[in-house]
Amino acid sequence: RGTDGVTSEDTLLLMKPNIVGRAEMDVQRIVTESGLRVILTRTLQMDKMQASQFYTEHQERSFFAELVDYVSSGPVVAMLISGPDAIRHLRKIVGPTDPAIARLEHPNSLRALFGVDKTMNSFHASDSHESASREIHFINSY
Ligand code: PPS
Repeated sequence: RGTDGVTSEDTLLLMKPNIVGRAEMDVQRIVTESGLRVILTRTLQMDKMQASQFYTEHQERSFFAELVDYVSSGPVVAMLISGPDAIRHLRKIVGPTDPAIARLEHPNSLRALFGVDKTMNSFHASDSHESASREIHFINSY
């Protein structure tokens, strides 16, 4: 519970390999200025097996191999984010999956600012309470 009596929730923001090492400070500032808190940050490298586990819900999708290769291609930065309605709020800050759409419809979103294309969209944010808790646990168990 936050100081204002509003219930906080936790969610996970993952910075994907193509932006690790260049946008961390900007990302932290954008997230913090939106009213969310960055509780902890951890840099880790997923191998293909771990990336496949992390994205297991997408294993039947046509782009699965591409997604796994991308996310395991270098270090990722996992940020534990907290605040009222944090899951929905963070998804909004991150923006649409495709950076081209993000740039048209949500030009201030993180994917509009830092995403490259549909594959290299630079960020992942948990999409539900269930995935937030699973993904936070996954990152913590490293
Ligand atoms: S949804 O809501 O499940 O339908 O989301 P979706 O937009 O389909 O994307 C799910 C995750 O897969 C990634 N994705 C891709 N990766 C590689 N190549 C292509 N073409 C591609 N299309 C979608 C997308 O970035 C999502 O990853 P996360 O990390 O969860 O954002």
